Amino acid sequence: MAPRHLMSPLDFSVEEMEKLLDLASDIEKNPDKYSHVCDGKRIATLFYEPSTRTRLSFEAAMMNLGGKVLGFHSSDSSSATKGESVSDTIRIVSCYADICAMRHPKEGAPLVASMKSSIPVINAGDGGHQHPTQTLTDMMTIRSLKGRLGNLKIGLCGDLKFGRTVHSLISSLSRYEGVSFVLISPEELRVPSYVRESLAAKKIPFEEVVKLDESTMSGLDVLYMTRVQKERFFNEADYVRMKDFYILDREKMELAPKDMIVLHPLPRVNEIAVEVDDDPRACYFRQVQYGVYARMALILTLLGMEDATNE
Ligand code: CP
Repeated sequence: MAPRHLMSPLDFSVEEMEKLLDLASDIEKNPDKYSHVCDGKRIATLFYEPSTRTRLSFEAAMMNLGGKVLGFHSSDSSSATKGESVSDTIRIVSCYADICAMRHPKEGAPLVASMKSSIPVINAGDGGHQHPTQTLTDMMTIRSLKGRLGNLKIGLCGDLKFGRTVHSLISSLSRYEGVSFVLISPEELRVPSYVRESLAAKKIPFEEVVKLDESTMSGLDVLYMTRVQKERFFNEADYVRMKDFYILDREKMELAPKDMIVLHPLPRVNEIAVEVDDDPRACYFRQVQYGVYARMALILTLLGMEDATNE
């Protein structure tokens, strides 16, 4: 049977997404039940671009399930430096592992790999395009902390142009009733036009603003902060000009709704002041923990083992 891959959060229907999030919540509540379900299984983490959370959380996820990990953490430490293509690499890795997570600076590289793969391939971030497993993490965090995925007003702030987590999260949340977006960015870092056009075509309410102030934050259920993506800029001067455009500090948090949660895919640079970390609304470190449960659920789902503990 052809393997199932994950390239975009929309690869899962809403029903499948709910099932995956239910599984992730069950894993959170009953970790021992899952601690040997992947005994003998291996995940390969093929990271052609730096990562802390995504790679380590995939590795932690597989180890929590009883499985093993192998892989590389930079293209420099793989035969990519000798010119090997991702298509050839995945054919090789298919002989060593049962499932693979790939991050690559080129948009579409994990998709190319998936076409030649005999094992499930997970897009762990491709250029400025998509980051579907961050979206699973974000969806689980929002559902767990706000109790729902519909009827939410979500503010997304920062680099909405290159921030792949933003593109994936908007597309995924757009499928829920009553969701609206406030897109907060400098003019140069607006969401790509395809994202705006998709929202307009689906008649999903959204507004674009530049300032992160009291009026912008009014009524927000979630404020999703992002860093300016230094690695995607062609010009250092443009990055330097943009990098501190937004700084969410204690003073700004005074103006925010009392029940608004602050999320961030991390890494954070300056866009959230460290003083905000103690605010009970700052949930970005809890979000990291949800990422492990979400990836455990994803591994089980793509391996066709989501019902393993019911047998
Ligand atoms: N959120 C995220 O993708 O972090 P890393 O780049 O550290 O994996």
